Amino acid sequence: MEKILVEGGTPLRGTVDVCGAKNAALPILCATILTEYPCLIRNVPDLRDVTSTIEILRELGMHCERQLDRAISIVEENPDAHTAPYEHVRKMRASICTLGPLLARRKKAKVSMPGGCVFGLRPIDLHLKGLAALGADIRINHGYLEAEAKELRGTTIYLGGPFGSSVLGTANVMMAATLAKGTTVIEAAACEPEIADLGVFLKSMGARIEGIGTPRLVIDGVSSLRGAEHSIIPDRIEAGTFLIAGAITRGDVVVRGARIEHLTAVTDVLKQAGLKISAENDAIRVCSNGGFHPVDVTTLPYPGFPTDLQAQMMAFLSLADGISVITEKIYPDRFMHVAELARTGAKIRKEGPSAIISGVQRLSGAPVMASDLRASACLLIAGLVAQGITTVYRIYHLDRGYERIEHRLSGLGARIRREPAGENESECLD
Ligand code: EPZ
Repeated sequence: MEKILVEGGTPLRGTVDVCGAKNAALPILCATILTEYPCLIRNVPDLRDVTSTIEILRELGMHCERQLDRAISIVEENPDAHTAPYEHVRKMRASICTLGPLLARRKKAKVSMPGGCVFGLRPIDLHLKGLAALGADIRINHGYLEAEAKELRGTTIYLGGPFGSSVLGTANVMMAATLAKGTTVIEAAACEPEIADLGVFLKSMGARIEGIGTPRLVIDGVSSLRGAEHSIIPDRIEAGTFLIAGAITRGDVVVRGARIEHLTAVTDVLKQAGLKISAENDAIRVCSNGGFHPVDVTTLPYPGFPTDLQAQMMAFLSLADGISVITEKIYPDRFMHVAELARTGAKIRKEGPSAIISGVQRLSGAPVMASDLRASACLLIAGLVAQGITTVYRIYHLDRGYERIEHRLSGLGARIRREPAGENESECLD
């Protein structure tokens, strides 16, 4: 176990490079199952979730090799493998994205049911609805999804759910449809840039897809797909995390490689709060010029404000000069970070799917427990500005989605270090 200690009070200044997008890399790596030919995926971030995905692909008979400069070469080795075991899937729910490609290419799949997580049940009913509509026969047995499909046939599928579109649900159904017989139309498809990036990769493999990046995808199935090379898009959530870190410390930070068109909802909130945001070639710059105004934020499917930046923005708004309201429309229970943030002096009241944040003058450093990936980023951001030392425990959550974040923050002037943590240090109060 490890912990990160951060001493607040230093405005972050300088330039930080953004890595490839975790949430594009995971489905794209799974998409290589769709072809027998070699693929080369570049700009893959070095994250625990990527390592887990590689482990699962190896279990599924794919030969994966990390190359220099963040590239991974993948080629099919054993097309008969079709089981994604629990010990890997339990570590990362995105492994559900092997289901569609396995069904399309190998006609069968046995994938452990992903569990829930701290911020919700994380159902997969939309995934199963879409794959069943394509002709898959799916059963749940002893915690595993057992699926078969003699032949997938194109059809029209409405994939919207009670909380809007499904990102990985769209990924799964789109991947399966590339090798289905006939045309598939996905209505209420996810428009996230990561799904658009997957669509671009699939087209480079020879898939026939129209409407990429829109809520209506039209996929004409083909008989086979070729190998391809692809470079993952920049990670907008990581970029937004660094922008918020620069903002809360009243610094001046350039996030190089970020695409401002992927972050309009986020930069809009930061501008409303009083920050100066500018887009320089292939970079976004944030600088503070005074206090922070309160802002009301509602998370929505893309291009709305991303749920994956809700916790980080809450840390920032804890220091606004007034009352802000954050309403979580994607995961109404995604507020595990509120109690830990309160330990640093933030004043936040939960009201159903909303958090009412009364801005305070200052936060004070405290020992805090990370509960999930983005909650750990929120606590780190609070520590960057809290008086004294903040110690964040269970930072294995952080390493799932942020590459060497303490080194990159210290490159911007943060006083931060990682240390081993005793077993009992990371136990939390029951
Ligand atoms: C993806 O998860 C991301 N993960 C999540 O990022 C992100 O928070 C989420 O999309 C929303 O943007 C990856 O891409 C690996 P959903 P996903 O299916 O696809 C409900 C991070 O921090 N739903 O879009 O699993 C669901 O409960 C992670 O990087 C159903 O009802 O999310 C939620 O309320 C956390 N039925 C909403 O839809 C389903 O079958 C959106 O979920 C599927 C989802």
